[in-house]
Amino acid sequence: MDRIIVEGGQRLVGEVEVSGAKNAALPMLAGVLLAEGRHRLRNVPDLADVRTLCKLFEIMGARTQRGEGALADAITIDVDASLTPEAPYDLVRTMRASVLVLGPLVARLGRARVSLPGGCAIGARPIDQHLKGLERLGAEITLEHGYVEARAKKLVGAKFTFDVVSVTGTENLMMAACLAEGRTILENAACEPEVEALAHMLNAMGARIRGAGTPALTIDGVRSLRPVEHPIIPDRIEAGTFLVAAALTQGDVLVKGALPEHMEALIQKLRATGARVTAEQDGVRCQGADVILPTDIKTLAHPGFPTDMQAQLMVLLSVAKGSSMVTETVFENRFMHVLELSRMGADIRIDGKVALVKGVPNLSGAPVMATDLRASACLVLAGLRARGQTEIRRVYHLDRGYERMEEKLSGLGARIERVRD
Ligand code: UD1
Repeated sequence: MDRIIVEGGQRLVGEVEVSGAKNAALPMLAGVLLAEGRHRLRNVPDLADVRTLCKLFEIMGARTQRGEGALADAITIDVDASLTPEAPYDLVRTMRASVLVLGPLVARLGRARVSLPGGCAIGARPIDQHLKGLERLGAEITLEHGYVEARAKKLVGAKFTFDVVSVTGTENLMMAACLAEGRTILENAACEPEVEALAHMLNAMGARIRGAGTPALTIDGVRSLRPVEHPIIPDRIEAGTFLVAAALTQGDVLVKGALPEHMEALIQKLRATGARVTAEQDGVRCQGADVILPTDIKTLAHPGFPTDMQAQLMVLLSVAKGSSMVTETVFENRFMHVLELSRMGADIRIDGKVALVKGVPNLSGAPVMATDLRASACLVLAGLRARGQTEIRRVYHLDRGYERMEEKLSGLGARIERVRD
């Protein structure tokens, strides 16, 4: 298992390019299953999660190939008329987002069988909204032997209101509704930029979706969709992680390709901590302040503060001059990084959904263990700031969502290396 070793205390300065968004690439890959033919997605990040989904495609009989040279960021997907619409446990348990194939498969092929994902490090994470919504569109859902099976000769458009805002739930139902008969209205839908990006791609395939990016989506079903060539939007969470790295090290970093309109809540909070954040023509720049100020954050669905940035911002607050309150409302158990941060000298107390972060002058390097994707990014950030050496274990979590993170950070002056065991 690889480890990452960081020697803290370097100021990060320079430019770094943002990769394509993991959370856009996964639903867009799933979306191509709605149409037979050859598709090509561009700006696809080379991440463990993307490779997992491609592996699932191979098992189902859809061929995927990453390009070479100038096309290294592209993936070509050949989708046949018939597929084996089944996602086995071994893949789903490593990546919950595999459930995204459920909607497209049942819509086009009339049947899909996907292993139930089970719990994960950041809480129970049920998929009841995906299933209720598909049932509303006329699918018959059965749960047996740890698998969910959805069947429908033809889905039929309907109105569905989500009980809780769910990103992949919205994506799954939006995809399914594209091939349903008649009109579907989804209310209390997720407004994340990745949902909007998926809708753009589906519309380019011939779908008729309106309202993406708002809580109310209207989808008029069509008989079939056509293959597509489409780019993936920049990863706002990766970009945000680099902005925090700049703030944390009193650095000056331009994240090239980052879209400020996707990151408003984060930018506001970075400014509240004293950092200077500016939208430039080709990206977003963050210049760290000498004194980091405390601020409270509360995670919410978009456009609120993203839960996927909570752990990273907490590192910044852990060295602020004063106390901050961090409230996590999206996931249960998403404070797993706190124990490791405490081992690095942070002063954080948890009470249910709230973490009280009392700023300390600095952190001290230590061996730490990553527990999930964003927690591992937070530990890398903590290592960049800490005095001495930090060794982060279980970095396979990091590789699920960050492309070449250590290379990108060393390009900014960080002393960081990966040790392969
Ligand atoms: C997506 C993102 C993930 C991000 C999360 C919240 C992808 C691939 N992953 O995950 O990085 O952290 O959004 O922004 O895009 N819930 C239910 N029932 C459901 C579905 C969800 O109760 O059927 C609950 C979840 O337990 C959670 C909340 O709703 O508490 C939000 O989850 P959801 O938006 O579905 O997260 P994901 O789509 O899995």
